[in-house]
Amino acid sequence: MTGGAGFIGSNFCRWLLQNTDVRVTVLDKLTYAGNEASLADLPRDRVELIVGDVCDADLVDSLVARVDGVVHFAAESHNDNSLNDPSPFVQTNVVGTYTLLQAVRAHDKRYHHISTDEVYGDLELDDPDRFCEMTPYNPSSPYSATKAGSDLLVRAWVRSFGVRATISNCSNNYGPYQHIEKFIPRQITNVLCGLRPKLYGQGLNVRDWIHVDDHNAAVWLILNEGTLGETYLIGADGEKSNREVVEEVLSLLGQPRDGFDLVADRPGHDMRYAIDSSKLRAELGWLPTYTTFADGLAATIDWYRDNEAWWRPAKEATEAKYAKQGQ
Ligand code: NAD
Ligand code: DAU
Repeated sequence: MTGGAGFIGSNFCRWLLQNTDVRVTVLDKLTYAGNEASLADLPRDRVELIVGDVCDADLVDSLVARVDGVVHFAAESHNDNSLNDPSPFVQTNVVGTYTLLQAVRAHDKRYHHISTDEVYGDLELDDPDRFCEMTPYNPSSPYSATKAGSDLLVRAWVRSFGVRATISNCSNNYGPYQHIEKFIPRQITNVLCGLRPKLYGQGLNVRDWIHVDDHNAAVWLILNEGTLGETYLIGADGEKSNREVVEEVLSLLGQPRDGFDLVADRPGHDMRYAIDSSKLRAELGWLPTYTTFADGLAATIDWYRDNEAWWRPAKEATEAKYAKQGQ
């Protein structure tokens, strides 16, 4: 797998250790978002970390030659960063995916592509529709445009070269080991540091939250039982406004629910994401297990409270970057 030192990838390693007997080779560049500490306690005979770039064709080819299949998590993943400097997004998300596709094509290996609901653009707050597999692509940010481009490369390699691939597009994940630049861990660690949570704009934007373990269980199911060439949307009916999430974080941490600041909005900010995951549920029998957001959020808060050594080194620089943007 790629990107195994990041948020979802490191949780996927843990999920595999608990639920399967596979051995995992992780290829990860250890960018600012990758953290070796997220894998440090895992048994070396089950999880091997190779530090390298998914754009390094020789390295990728040699690794793909010796594995049974590839799950591609590695990406530049943060929208705000893509607005400041799109270049690593084009390189890693587009060229990196191309590099992997050429390798799995050459070695005829099974490939699963991890993508996002953001490729579909956004919905109005009062739109009764949700995204489904047939929704046209309409990405808004440099991040989502490069993810859309990578999905389309996968589709082309399936059709033109017969690559044995599947794609999943998931909604917003939460859980342990998520970088503190992202919304939920930023607000939790702000409160733990005595800072006020920051809401972009009026805090009305809606995201469709899913626990990272529910996402990863779906990925494993699609990898093993999904139909080749198909796309599956992954979502757990978890729509919440950003303001509702911040109020819940404040309340769970014993703070007044209005103890947040409204800050500068994100340029081009997508209003709402919402996933219809009925294909995944009907065809593969997937169901989320974290059905009460407040419980999953409370467990996530406990994790950040108990693992300050994991996030503290990045806090000052992350907040300094946001302060420069007025956020
Ligand atoms: P993350 O930023 O936490 O982790 C990304 C990982 O990729 C890091 O370990 C980083 O070091 C590695 N990486 C980056 N560039 C690399 C390169 N050139 N070569 C090798 N490794 C490289 O991201 P995440 O939130 O865990 O997201 C993982 C995947 O899931 C991404 O493809 C993302 O688009 C997708 N996704 C994320 C979410 C979400 O809510 N976080 C939702 C849907 C889909
Ligand atoms: O939908 C899936 C996507 O979810 C993934 O593809 C991305 O990799 C992942 O980063 C996430 O994208 P978002 O842009 O939705 O996530 P982020 O955590 O950056 O922001 C979530 C919402 O919270 C969004 O509406 C912006 C807002 N926000 C964010 C931050 C960091 C705030 O209001 N305040 C903040 O401080």
